[in-house]
Amino acid sequence: MWKQAIEDAARKAARNIDKYGGDQFPHVSSDGGIKYNLNPNTDWTDGFWTGILWLCYEYTGDTKFRDTARANVESFRKRLEAKTNLDHHDIGFLYSLSSKAQWMIEKDEAARQLTLRAADHLLTRWRPKSRIIQAWGPEGHEQNGGRIIIDCLMNLPLLYWAYEQTGDEKYREVATLHADKSRRFLVRGDDSSYHTFYFDQETGDAIRGGTHQGYRDGSTWTRGQAWGVYGFALSYRYTKNPLYLDTSKRLARYFLSRLPEDDVAYWDFDVPVEAGTSRDSSASAITACGILELLGHLEPNDPARAELEDGLRRSMKSLVANYSTMNDDGVEGLLKHGSYHVRGGLSPDDFVIWGDYYYLEALMRLEKGHKGYWYE
Ligand code: GLY
Repeated sequence: MWKQAIEDAARKAARNIDKYGGDQFPHVSSDGGIKYNLNPNTDWTDGFWTGILWLCYEYTGDTKFRDTARANVESFRKRLEAKTNLDHHDIGFLYSLSSKAQWMIEKDEAARQLTLRAADHLLTRWRPKSRIIQAWGPEGHEQNGGRIIIDCLMNLPLLYWAYEQTGDEKYREVATLHADKSRRFLVRGDDSSYHTFYFDQETGDAIRGGTHQGYRDGSTWTRGQAWGVYGFALSYRYTKNPLYLDTSKRLARYFLSRLPEDDVAYWDFDVPVEAGTSRDSSASAITACGILELLGHLEPNDPARAELEDGLRRSMKSLVANYSTMNDDGVEGLLKHGSYHVRGGLSPDDFVIWGDYYYLEALMRLEKGHKGYWYE
């Protein structure tokens, strides 16, 4: 089942290369359409396409994937030089799956150097007074200056990796301080999560939790919970702090315990479910990768292991059988029914390129024992 799904993904990606070339990047589809909206490497999502290309190259050995991925990395080099739309924290998403993946696969020194420069750029988001990595917007911004979002946990591996490469403690210190703060304020007592949290920019005092893409401030946006499952598992991978492992496990169990009958998440765990309520298949794909990472760290006799393994299999089987485009050759995306920002009216039931990436990463982990590009 996994093998067929990977082969279908590689066929579609090869066809998409012919449409996108080496310098156009798919983001999301609109209005349930069959095609991706493209951009010239200006969005936060552009690394996911490059990550898909590297995964397809590693699976097939076809140099068409490698050559396009290399061309993408060149585009990422120019983007960092020009600082094109990089005034945010998503540098880890962009450069882990592009230049860092190239370094991991090809040991290309220029790719390593580019990735280290990207890590330095991410450090410019650190705010020493509030002790956070600021998610969005310029320093001192009234709304966003003291704001973190749970998604940032997936940007931290870039900093941990830079520490491993250089031995410079500043990368690790920022990553762990931010992970600690996220654990304390974004994760709630019942193992659900806030999407976002605000701190006083001068004193660092906690102000309040809230949401941007979730149903309401106190609800649990399923993709946010998914970023937490995988992000804390990766922070554990790098630091071996058992609190991160425990947090990832708690978030994962909450996620699995709240799934509907077909084992794939709606866009928010607290949204009323009625006819037409959107799913977010990408949340389930991200969580599958997170659980696969988590399982690699749990003791063989951990009491949660059976529940996590069962939830993982059920979710992945449902994604392949009910959400993939395996039986639909005329579309560009791999996974149907992702949602970007339902309340904001942005692509509420569409292809989303990160959903495709994590779906393929999960399949590659299951079929090949591949581990993605978040750590070496
Ligand atoms: N990191 C933005 C999102 O998940 O939509």
